[in-house]
Amino acid sequence: MITTGQKIATQLTERSRLPGTDLDNIKFGRVFSDHMFVMDYTDGKWQVPKIMAFGDMRMSPASLVLHYSQTIFEGLKAYRTPTGVNIFRPQDNIARMNRSATRMCMPQIPEDIFMDALVELVRLDQGWIPKGDEASLYIRPFMFASDEYIGVRPSDGYRFIIFTCPVRAYYSDPVKVKVEVEYSRAFPGGTGEAKCGGNYAGGLYPAMKGASEGFHQLIWTDGITHKYIEESGTMNVFFNIEGTLITPALDGTILRGITRDSIIRIARDEGVKVEERQVSVEEIHVAAKNGRLHSAFGAGTAATIAHISNIAFGDEKFELPNVADRKISNTVGEKLDAIRRGRIPDPYGWIVPVS
Ligand SMILES: Cc1ncc(COP(=O)(O)O)c(C=O)c1O
Repeated sequence: MITTGQKIATQLTERSRLPGTDLDNIKFGRVFSDHMFVMDYTDGKWQVPKIMAFGDMRMSPASLVLHYSQTIFEGLKAYRTPTGVNIFRPQDNIARMNRSATRMCMPQIPEDIFMDALVELVRLDQGWIPKGDEASLYIRPFMFASDEYIGVRPSDGYRFIIFTCPVRAYYSDPVKVKVEVEYSRAFPGGTGEAKCGGNYAGGLYPAMKGASEGFHQLIWTDGITHKYIEESGTMNVFFNIEGTLITPALDGTILRGITRDSIIRIARDEGVKVEERQVSVEEIHVAAKNGRLHSAFGAGTAATIAHISNIAFGDEKFELPNVADRKISNTVGEKLDAIRRGRIPDPYGWIVPVS
């Protein structure tokens, strides 16, 4: 545990934008709540943490991050409960962000100040959480290299920011995916396990090509042989083959998804057989061909569970239309949602209530 004991200096916005915002009609990631948390790293240490009005900031065109992408981020959510607000598994996002920081040569963020910042920011802007079953407050922590310098080396200075967005469902319909065997997202020894900006920028072009062919998302395969399934653009993937949930093992090239971990824990406790292992493209292709692939879904904070309705292997396209076969994912997804929204007790210690 890295601690500071520093207090957050808070300057509230003078004019809340909330009264002028229609929370019933929001696009994912386009509306931002009133406040943000900012903490700078200079002279080898973290400076005074602050909460202030969300707004633009000044940056030098020579900021290292703009050139060499030394930047990492996280995504987590806060939910309305019958009596207040819960943040879901923030301790795991904090740990993952610090692992990403290590991989990207960035300083560790003190866990206590990170947690205090999340709780305080959500507490201040809880009025921004829309009401309704699929609504939540998406929380975006990120850190970037702030030195004004041209040259490839780790920055000396960093800025760590957290802001939040009111959101509703990410995908409203099941998604169509294509198994990508030409481009790669990650490879052994690379940055696949880190949540760093460059991983996403590199995926844009193949995803855009996939979108032009009618696919919402790609399913990445390993960067060396393209024979093994890895994950999707912003989700881990699960396949239900005749009642067994199968998902690629954490091998260092895919993100250690927190939704993935939650689904595995709940599914096992519900008596579902779950296998974390190498998953070959061939295995899923054959299962789809002979009707043994009952369902497939993506799992991530933004979408929670995104059912896959169509999956393409090259020119061969399969429909996974049997809604009844989504029973496992629906049961697990509903339980996960009930825990997050405080409708049933949390036996796992995942919830951090915001008082
Ligand atoms: C590449 C990638 N894989 C998987 C996930 C799912 O992770 P989590 O469940 O922690 O949101 C995400 C989202 O953060 C992601 O960006």
